[in-house]
Amino acid sequence: MDSSKFPELKNDSLLRAATGRSVSRIPVWAMRQAGRYLPEFRQVREKHDFFEMCRTPELACQVTLQPLERFDLDAAIIFSDILVIPQAVGMEVKMVPKQGPVFPDPLQTPDDLQKLNFSVDVHTELKYVYDAITLTRHRLEGKVPLIGFTGAPWTLMSYMIEGGGSKTMSKSKAWLYRHREASHKLLGNLTEIIVEYLSQQVVAGAQLLQVFESHAGFLGRALFNEFCLPYLVRIRDGVRARLSALGQDKVAMTIFAKDAHYALSDLAASGYEVISLDWTIEPQTARKIVGNGVTLQGNLDPCALYAKPERIRELTNAMVTEFASGPYIANLGHGMYPDMSPDGLAAFVNAVHETKIIA
Ligand code: CP3
Repeated sequence: MDSSKFPELKNDSLLRAATGRSVSRIPVWAMRQAGRYLPEFRQVREKHDFFEMCRTPELACQVTLQPLERFDLDAAIIFSDILVIPQAVGMEVKMVPKQGPVFPDPLQTPDDLQKLNFSVDVHTELKYVYDAITLTRHRLEGKVPLIGFTGAPWTLMSYMIEGGGSKTMSKSKAWLYRHREASHKLLGNLTEIIVEYLSQQVVAGAQLLQVFESHAGFLGRALFNEFCLPYLVRIRDGVRARLSALGQDKVAMTIFAKDAHYALSDLAASGYEVISLDWTIEPQTARKIVGNGVTLQGNLDPCALYAKPERIRELTNAMVTEFASGPYIANLGHGMYPDMSPDGLAAFVNAVHETKIIA
């Protein structure tokens, strides 16, 4: 499918806010906005395996567009998963209902790195993601921009070693302490793949890129500075250089380093245009640390969507008012949960848009 002639973008408030320009309304979207809280998503999911959905552009496109039919959102995020990269380098990943991702054969010792194929051709192996992006860009008809994404190296490494979710990350953190060199090798190799993967998403039509370092909070400052931040910077700089070599326009990039308040000032200096915040930091505290040169995104506690609509509205109005003194994109502090009501998200999205911008 042709990725050169896309329909003209009609609502650019997300892209304007991401690069610090003025907006006529505050843009809003929600992490996991395409997911099981939507009955129409569950209907598709009943008939298909999760990764089959990721690998079938027509299905990925269909569920990406579903939330836009219901809510007045300012962005779409391509339906996929961060774990497509471990799959691309040769690991098996299953999505087990009610349990989440499972790696039947996780990495145990540094010798296991030899089993992985880091020279994989990202163009062919992950082509299904680019195809889904291109198809979705056309089907969006310029309504809102399309966000592409990746998992960040540490978060991917931790899944590859833990073999799934973990309360402590003790196996993967053991690598950082015991197998320092092998850890850097793995993180470096993942970084190279991520740079190419994100750049190709832009070629395919992604208009903003979000990097999910969902497990940053397990690290603390010292481990973060050694095993996380340098790779996030390499991804930022690498994508910028690669896009310019490919003759592509620049795109804004967002870093979501969950639970890493300790790193906010470092992240503000890391070259990402947008910092996405979890809900455990107050808007004004974050703004004081990062200043007005970086766009903030977030950060309503997702569980606030369990409240009655009137309460969601109050909480959202208050949050937006506090953030909107600087460049800002409204979002949740993490993803939606499957048992949430679509009405909660509707209340959130509408409350963002009704909040008057004072700045
Ligand atoms: O709507 C969107 O945000 C776009 C799609 C998206 C998914 N996963 C779809 C998904 C995105 C951006 C992700 C990213 C992702 N995947 C992250 C980073 C964000 C975060 O949550 O911190 C992580 C850690 C993963 C790994 C992952 N995938 C987990 C831990 C799980 C299980 C948790 C759960 O919600 O069940 C998934 C599965 C997953 N990814 C689902 C969806 C819609 C549900 C799976 C299903 O339908 O069975």
